[in-house]
Amino acid sequence: MKVAPSLLSCDFSKMGEEIQRVDRAGADWIHLDVMDGHFVPNLTIGPAIISAVRPYTKLPFDVHLMIDYPLDYIDAFAKAGADIITFHVEAKSDIQATIDKIKSLNIKAGLVIKPNTPAETVYPYLEQLYMVLVMTVEPGFGGQSFMADMLPKVTAIKEECAKRGLDVLVEVDGGISEKTASTASKAGVDVCVSGTGVFKAADTAAAIAAIQNA
Ligand code: DX5
Ligand code: ZN
Repeated sequence: MKVAPSLLSCDFSKMGEEIQRVDRAGADWIHLDVMDGHFVPNLTIGPAIISAVRPYTKLPFDVHLMIDYPLDYIDAFAKAGADIITFHVEAKSDIQATIDKIKSLNIKAGLVIKPNTPAETVYPYLEQLYMVLVMTVEPGFGGQSFMADMLPKVTAIKEECAKRGLDVLVEVDGGISEKTASTASKAGVDVCVSGTGVFKAADTAAAIAAIQNA
């Protein structure tokens, strides 16, 4: 599996160095959590910060939008250096228009589902997607416990893609550690986001490798 360390758990006073630290430690992507205080009860970073830290690595930027109106900000995140943009099916922008906008800028598009949202909500869009992100915690905060009961959704999405001959990545986000990564791997997960599990680990490279090899 690929590992995308979530910057939500890094030292925000030196975000550039933190990115270099996980890059050197073997991270595959960098996961950036954007929150607007409406879609989730927390505020984090926006395009200005993403743009400022973009030069610190060549790794792909996996930008997870937890905002009510993603469509209004796709241009800004594209300009900031996003390689992959994922947004929630539960958000208020038109889903098709938002996918079209992301792809028109040559960025990879992904849909995200919260724990209470069924896997089937992404099925109408699978042909157009690079990735589906299945949340394994309620979005908003790092450091929560992994919800193993989300994994059947991962398997269902992978099976639906296989049935249609599609190669869509499935990512999970929330509560991933070495232990939970192995159950995620069995369910068919391709990419694990990990905030606390990577940034608070005593040995960053070992934590990343443990998830990759789980
Ligand atoms: C939660 C974010 C996650 C979060 C994961 O809303 O989407 O990316 O940072 O953090 P951990 O790995 O600590 O659960
Ligand atoms: Zn995230």
